[in-house]
Amino acid sequence: MSEFRLTQISDTHLGRRFPGLIANFHRVSEHIDANRPDLVVNTGDVSFDGPTSRDDVEFAKSLHAALPVDCRYIPGNHDIGDNPTAIGPAPKPRVTEAHRQQFRDLVGEDHWSFEAAGWRFIGLNSLVMNSGLAFEAEQFDWLAAEIARANGKPVALFIHKPLFLNRPDDPELPETSIRYVPQPARTRLIEMFGNVDLRLIASGHVHQRRDFSFRHMRHVWAPSAGFKINDARQDRIALKETGLVEYRFSRDSLEVRHVRAAGQLDIDIEEVLAQLAGEC
Ligand SMILES: [Fe+2]
Ligand SMILES: [Fe+2]
Repeated sequence: MSEFRLTQISDTHLGRRFPGLIANFHRVSEHIDANRPDLVVNTGDVSFDGPTSRDDVEFAKSLHAALPVDCRYIPGNHDIGDNPTAIGPAPKPRVTEAHRQQFRDLVGEDHWSFEAAGWRFIGLNSLVMNSGLAFEAEQFDWLAAEIARANGKPVALFIHKPLFLNRPDDPELPETSIRYVPQPARTRLIEMFGNVDLRLIASGHVHQRRDFSFRHMRHVWAPSAGFKINDARQDRIALKETGLVEYRFSRDSLEVRHVRAAGQLDIDIEEVLAQLAGEC
């Protein structure tokens, strides 16, 4: 295969009780059906609340299973819980092995690696980092082997949380420590990828669309497919909209397209929370 077309969706936050988010997912599904990429990757927060609602996870998977193309997934904090940081309050709920297993049982593998169009693609579970769970060390061992297999090929990394705001040595601030891969896991990851040609880091989690390069690495933050978070609740770093990202990989090029599906609406988080409150 000389060219590999990949569509990234993220932060779908699906649950039966959120008709607006379901409608946005259907608009995205129609777009994917019309464009038929080789692979769809959901970079996490696939479900609305995996730790308290197994049904959210089952429902989210059922909508993805209806897509006419292959899908891969990595978990988000809303699927399996969040990871501890060195500073700031501990995020709740904390990631657990039971919820990681639930994700793997109902949705799919939470970390993966494959080769296409001369690239090595790696998907990582970023929520277990700093957790002390046995799988944290297991995944780092697995990653070291997969990085060795890249063997000179360009690498594309998919991960729920961005590695950092602007630079690897950004100070970790208590108010934003849960937004990025926490230290010391961040430094360890950067060092592990230091000997390969890591060209793309595709993330989600922030619900903002961003695209920037640091040295030779391109960082693409996918927006949420479902909803945006207003400025009163979250600082504005980049573009707040719903949408998706399309990539074309070939041996000598990488193209990135910032796309909104026809009919996809900019639902605000207040609307989602109102639906949640109305249900209780
Ligand atoms: Fe999210
Ligand atoms: Fe998230």
